[in-house]
Amino acid sequence: MKIGICTGGGDCPGLNAVIRAVTRHAILDYGMDVYGIEQSINGLLCDPPAARKLSLLDVAGILDRGGTILGTSNKGSPFKDPETGETSIAKATSNWKSLGLDCLLVVGGDGTQRMALQLHDAGMPIIGIPKTIDNDYQPTDIAIGFMTAVEVAADSILRLRSTAEAHSRVMVCEVMGRDAGFIALHAGIASAANVILLPEIPYDFDVIVKAMEARKLRGRNFSVIVVAEGAREIGREPLFRSSATGSMHLGGVADEIARQIHERSGMDSRVTVLGHIQRGGAPSTLDRILATAFGVAAVDLAAAKKFGRVVGYKKGEISSVAYTEFENGTRSLKLDDPFLRAAESVGICLGR
Ligand code: F6P
Repeated sequence: MKIGICTGGGDCPGLNAVIRAVTRHAILDYGMDVYGIEQSINGLLCDPPAARKLSLLDVAGILDRGGTILGTSNKGSPFKDPETGETSIAKATSNWKSLGLDCLLVVGGDGTQRMALQLHDAGMPIIGIPKTIDNDYQPTDIAIGFMTAVEVAADSILRLRSTAEAHSRVMVCEVMGRDAGFIALHAGIASAANVILLPEIPYDFDVIVKAMEARKLRGRNFSVIVVAEGAREIGREPLFRSSATGSMHLGGVADEIARQIHERSGMDSRVTVLGHIQRGGAPSTLDRILATAFGVAAVDLAAAKKFGRVVGYKKGEISSVAYTEFENGTRSLKLDDPFLRAAESVGICLGR
């Protein structure tokens, strides 16, 4: 067989680990040819297609390398435009045919997998591999990149804690996650945060200030607040800010919280926005393991010609699910999530 692989959406740690696992397992155990498609699915829209054959040597030494050797793009779907969308799908499909590929392994989150499904519906056999630091993709409990992002965020928040204590300050740390609070919740628990604010639970400033005043009464004159970029005050919408190039992104909530806390309590506060630090650099041990297991599972599906499925980690097992069997979209924290309970049970304020 000849299989293709591409990485799409925002990058994350573990993409190279999955490319390596796919290439090694496909070549060593099945004698397949593996083609890397560049810059996400966009590589299939180029003339000639931007694709190259991957050898064992190409993937040597990349298990722990950040980024992706194939490049990626999160500039939106080329298939969305009502005027050019159909033509782009036809172009991708004909380029895929001209490469002689039997299937395409698409590493990506919700947005990329939607594009993949459109290609699948147009006749291109697809296998999906979930990656997203936000961990908000339905078919898996843990996606590639999430655990490293939590590790990086938790380590940074712990560092903020000691300087908060030294200066008797409030440190507000904004983390990524779009509309899901997985990174904020897990990193906050792992770094003894005092307050965690999540998109799923709109917050009340009075509750936050009360929690910090209660700490003061116990002699703890500092607080660390972790806030997800998509979190919002009760009755208000999430905040957005424009990038240097003019595009709008979730962001600014940490500034707003620091200002409100200062106004309401007089406490000195500082803001840290972790940003893309959470996406860069080497994958953690667990992400290297997960990416390897996902890559191997995807190649096994390809060998068995079980297309139109997404691999995942569900209930402690590596499994797969058909694109048609789940709601292709994002997920967020459920209000009965055991980690929410764990956080509140150790005294972390969730702003409610
Ligand atoms: O989806 C991953 C993510 O890192 C989000 O957490 C964040 O909001 C977004 O991507 C940032 O994307 P960009 O690459 O456009 O800055």
